[in-house]
Amino acid sequence: MKKIRKAIFPVAGLGTRFLPATKSMPKEMLAIIDKPIIQYAVEEAKAAGIEEFIFVTGRGKSALEDFFDYSYELNATLMRRGNKDDLEIVNQVVLDPGQVIYTRQQEPLGLGHAVWCARHLIQDEPFAVLLADDLILSKKSCLQQMIEVYEKKQGNMVAVMEVSKEETSQYGIIDPESQTGNVIKIKGMVEKPTSQKAPSQWAVIGRYILQSDIFQELENLKTGAGGEIQLTDAMSKLLKRSDFYGVEFDGRRFDCGSKQGLLAANMTCALERPDMRTAALKTMKELIEKS
Ligand code: G1P
Repeated sequence: MKKIRKAIFPVAGLGTRFLPATKSMPKEMLAIIDKPIIQYAVEEAKAAGIEEFIFVTGRGKSALEDFFDYSYELNATLMRRGNKDDLEIVNQVVLDPGQVIYTRQQEPLGLGHAVWCARHLIQDEPFAVLLADDLILSKKSCLQQMIEVYEKKQGNMVAVMEVSKEETSQYGIIDPESQTGNVIKIKGMVEKPTSQKAPSQWAVIGRYILQSDIFQELENLKTGAGGEIQLTDAMSKLLKRSDFYGVEFDGRRFDCGSKQGLLAANMTCALERPDMRTAALKTMKELIEKS
């Protein structure tokens, strides 16, 4: 069995929901207090043993490349000031030489297309995909939880979570065949179905472990929901010849691709951080009293 060593981070999205903030800044750099959402995803992947970090970027995303690199001016200034703590914080983010690869998705043709753009970097290994918009707070990294299931079952994995009927149209929805513990064998998948057409209320959350066979499916794919090349459509084709499992992960997920989700993640993290809790509670109490 081949180890999962590589992870794709599709980060080419325009982030229009966060305009004007994202006019000149990648949406993945939006922060939960002081940590960009992309850093959460990279840390999750690192904790799961990922060794190669493949970013599928686009125009206007160079801040991401700078983020994972040394900033010599900043380091020199922090050093001169003897600010060791901040120096450690900024250097911790830097990925090892050769560990990070950037490729571009020239046109916004969808998630499936973004993953396909990394095909030559993956070659014929199984790999992970992490969508930074889905922030998952958990004791054990969500991807690590999936890898542990993968080591027993192999095949392909997606993280899943139950959503309300009204929400099925926002997600890839699986058609479950059977469930053992937190692992669901999948027999079908559909991207963003209406509540009437949804085969279940199990939604795909942005964590995937895929066999490289997915590239053959992506190669010939026609556009699907929203006029985009959908990863879900490629997976639903691959399902016919390869096993797929949903992993009901242990953790809290925030949709940081939405304003409400980003706010909820900020409020939650503020309340849970020892250095922020008292101030956050005080502000929240005052606001509730006044409203
Ligand atoms: C993408 C996927 C969808 C998945 C979702 C999870 O949709 O296409 O299948 O359920 O991420 O967040 P997006 O949110 O990019 O529209």
